[in-house]
Amino acid sequence: MKRDDNNPNFQLPDLQAAKLRTRQPGRIVHGVFELPEGCRNLGQNRFYWLRTYGCQANVRDSETLAGMLQDMGFQPAETAEDADVLIFNTCAVRRNAEEHVLGEIGNLKHLKQENPDVIFAIGGCMAQEESVVRELLEKYPQVDLIFGTHNLHRFPELLYHAMLSHEKTVEVYSEEGEVVEDLPVRRTCAYKSFVNIMYGCNKFCTYCIVPYTRGRERSRLEADILAEVEQLKKQGCREVTLLGQNVNAYGKDLDMADGFTHLLEACALTGIERIRFYTSHPRDYSETTIDVMRQYPNIMPALHLPVQSGSDEILRRMARGYTAEHYRQLYDAMKAKIPGLALTTDLIVGFPGETDAQFEETLDLVDYCRFDSAFTFVYSPREGTPAAAMADGVPMHVKQQRLQQLNEKITYWGHANNQKYLGRTLQVLCDGPSRKNADILSGYSEENKLVNFTGAGVPAGTIVPVRITGAKSYTLDGELAAGNCPAAGNRL
Ligand code: SAH
Ligand code: SF4
Ligand code: F3S
Repeated sequence: MKRDDNNPNFQLPDLQAAKLRTRQPGRIVHGVFELPEGCRNLGQNRFYWLRTYGCQANVRDSETLAGMLQDMGFQPAETAEDADVLIFNTCAVRRNAEEHVLGEIGNLKHLKQENPDVIFAIGGCMAQEESVVRELLEKYPQVDLIFGTHNLHRFPELLYHAMLSHEKTVEVYSEEGEVVEDLPVRRTCAYKSFVNIMYGCNKFCTYCIVPYTRGRERSRLEADILAEVEQLKKQGCREVTLLGQNVNAYGKDLDMADGFTHLLEACALTGIERIRFYTSHPRDYSETTIDVMRQYPNIMPALHLPVQSGSDEILRRMARGYTAEHYRQLYDAMKAKIPGLALTTDLIVGFPGETDAQFEETLDLVDYCRFDSAFTFVYSPREGTPAAAMADGVPMHVKQQRLQQLNEKITYWGHANNQKYLGRTLQVLCDGPSRKNADILSGYSEENKLVNFTGAGVPAGTIVPVRITGAKSYTLDGELAAGNCPAAGNRL
């Protein structure tokens, strides 16, 4: 980290330092977290408003922040206007994600002008970028506190400092510290939970900022993960999603052989009803993981396996470590072994220098794999990453056209894939009334399809059989299968 000699409360991030990787095993510490003196009553009669951007890692971190705030006595506010503390848990993966956050911090500036005691706190991946921190300090005077992804456990103390001192407080570690277990947590959902299995990423895909903002790969102990899953199950949770930037690398830093497969099987044996995991990497994906997915019915037949591009040359320059052919073979193996598997992916168009022919190769791969859906992105240069220094002659309007063409193909296959569910009965974990229409319930099938269905009296958090009557590109329609009580759909 960089210190600012003029201000002891400043510890700025340093992307160059964040790049470093050591071979020393990470340290995992248990039972050390305690609210510092003075923090316990800090939130009495005070409200917080927490806004989360980005991926599931951030969603889970926000649950930790909310847990700490709750322990300090804060209550959640309905709106930003009602809050004493505003927290932005940010994402740095693309510039437009960042601009979105900066826009929102700007839009709420008046709250600080109206009440100088209101605290603006910025955390997450943007806080790990030195240039962003400097931008925040120079152009966003409403910001009081900036903290990073590696020192979440320090948030109560930093907040205390910012609130009492009225000084700008910036503490961002460039290097990951210890894995701190047993932090407070306030879960957003009682029946679906995220469980971190590892932090960080060592892959360094040339376009990606995540290895810099999240540090090196650090796995949690299998015993800690299993204890969390068991406890969630006991509390009535029905679905866990195991989280990591590259879950297939789980356990490498703990010298476990085939660690992810082992962990996945152990989680399946807990008997929790549904297990998902996110995100997988094609390079590390092992045959044994496919076998375990096939063997245990409580491991859901849905896989998100980002491919990024169908061109070997682009994949090489992205440093993805596999070829399009390898991905096709993985696809063939999985489709053959796991009946009904739904496959989704991530794709980037307009990587520096991507030619029309290379883009066509991506379209060909999409036709081969017939993805159920995909997140598609226009490449966004990220400061400090190798790709940002690569020559790029592709004009933005061409990149936008490619995105549109790709999206049309993704929509086509989404629609085509969904037709096969017509007339079938899927097991759906109900989330309650759909957002758009209170008479319609919605939930996710085992294949992770969003299903909107008719039927009365199904509480959120129950698994029910739903007969599919309509198939759109991104969602399915259905009706509660006749004669079934809500509990009848459970598989275990
Ligand atoms: N660890 C996961 C997800 C990382 S971020 C993985 O490797 O799959 C999620 C997605 O954002 C990536 O899969 C990639 O498609 C996209 N992405 C990452 N960096 C990007 C960039 N600089 N520009 C555009 N898309 C990017
Ligand atoms: Fe980024 Fe690649 Fe790591 Fe995913 S695997 S987080 S895309 S560096
Ligand atoms: Fe964004 Fe950080 Fe996740 S950059 S995608 S919030 S790891």
